[in-house]
Amino acid sequence: MTDPLIAAATSARENAFARFSKFKVGAALETTQGTIIPGCNVESASYGLTMCAERVAIFRGVTDGFHCFTRVAVVTDTATPTPPCGACRQLLWEFAPDAEVLLANLKGTIVKWTVRDLIPSAFDAKQLG
Ligand code: THU
Repeated sequence: MTDPLIAAATSARENAFARFSKFKVGAALETTQGTIIPGCNVESASYGLTMCAERVAIFRGVTDGFHCFTRVAVVTDTATPTPPCGACRQLLWEFAPDAEVLLANLKGTIVKWTVRDLIPSAFDAKQLG
């Protein structure tokens, strides 16, 4: 049986707005309350404004009042599951430092990480004093 978090990320990926890169990404976050928050990448004609699926999901979750996530799934149609970019690792650290990360492809390959292992020695609010 497919993990519901991976199923949500797979479904969100279908809505990816990736007209420039054609690289569709789906993400889903699980909150401490068990709510699932999906996100997909959204690209802009002004390329640098593109937003990754993981950050779309984080901002959507925060908008809904959730500030702490326990698991995150990222789904791409690649031979090897795709790890989050550096910017997304930073945001995941700030909102999901103890989260498990499930990276999956459409063939059912799943690679597991933790946010902590993906971004060692991270910058965060502690440095701001
Ligand atoms: N992308 C994500 O959605 N998440 C990542 O962690 C890496 C990259 C998106 C951004 C862009 O729309 C496309 O993948 C190609 O970089």
